[in-house]
Amino acid sequence: MWDPTAYRRYGDERARPFHDLLARVPADRPRAVVDLGCGPGNLTALLAARWPGSRVAGLDSSPEMIADATAAGVTFAVGDVRHWHPEPDVDVVVSNAVLQWVPGHRELLTRWARELPPGAWLAVQVPGNFDAPSHRALREVADRPAWRADVAPLLRRPPADDTAVGYAELMTGAGCAVDAWETLYVHLLPARPDAEHPVLGWLEGTALRPVRAALDAAGWSDFRAELGVRLAEAYPVRHDQVHFPFRRVFFVARTGARAEENQ
Ligand SMILES: C[S@@+](CC[C@H](N)C(=O)[O-])C[C@H]1O[C@@H](n2cnc3c(N)ncnc32)[C@H](O)[C@@H]1O
Repeated sequence: MWDPTAYRRYGDERARPFHDLLARVPADRPRAVVDLGCGPGNLTALLAARWPGSRVAGLDSSPEMIADATAAGVTFAVGDVRHWHPEPDVDVVVSNAVLQWVPGHRELLTRWARELPPGAWLAVQVPGNFDAPSHRALREVADRPAWRADVAPLLRRPPADDTAVGYAELMTGAGCAVDAWETLYVHLLPARPDAEHPVLGWLEGTALRPVRAALDAAGWSDFRAELGVRLAEAYPVRHDQVHFPFRRVFFVARTGARAEENQ
């Protein structure tokens, strides 16, 4: 279950890649724009502001997120991106920090590239932090005997090829012209040595959700405490903040563009 309040913590840091992604989508007057995995809809609102003449829709599988989503000029619906097919007038698709949760998303991306009209823009960002100290610590704690059976199977599997080059090859093979890149953001999260570690709060909004749902109150409290110790070692507090490096992978693909080039 997603918690829009926990997710909105660190809203500026989470919004920044969306802005960076959108800056590379030069669509002029798209007929329809879709935000796949739109979450609480605050970033979908930016799509409506950018293209006021377009039909803008947000889709998310979490009823909690969609219940929280309101934005002028945007239609929101509960739905799974795996079952989504574009209407013929969809000229822009954005999916920000979603597909890492969707096994088999590479096949999904090539299907969308096939189904979208020629000249459409498909803009995607996924975190590339599977091997970050935060996620390694999470896997190590989950693998302790107390939690191995209940928690370890809930964690994300290693991604197939989560590099910008991997996505560029995939989308080029699907006939798109591709702009792909990676960015390492160094988030500076306010912290006090005597308070909860801020990376714990960050993870509660995303990677820790399935863990919290699987444990009772006592188990969750123990799990958090142990993870908090490891996070404090990995991300020490200095000058009342921690440096939290976060790698993200981006691509913007234009459908059919390579077929045109080859004519
Ligand atoms: C990290 S949030 C990102 C939300 C928003 N795109 C943003 O950038 O703030 C991930 C979102 O993906 C949604 N999600 C995960 N798997 C999904 C699926 N198969 N279909 C639709 N939405 C999904 C979750 O419900 C959640 O709202």
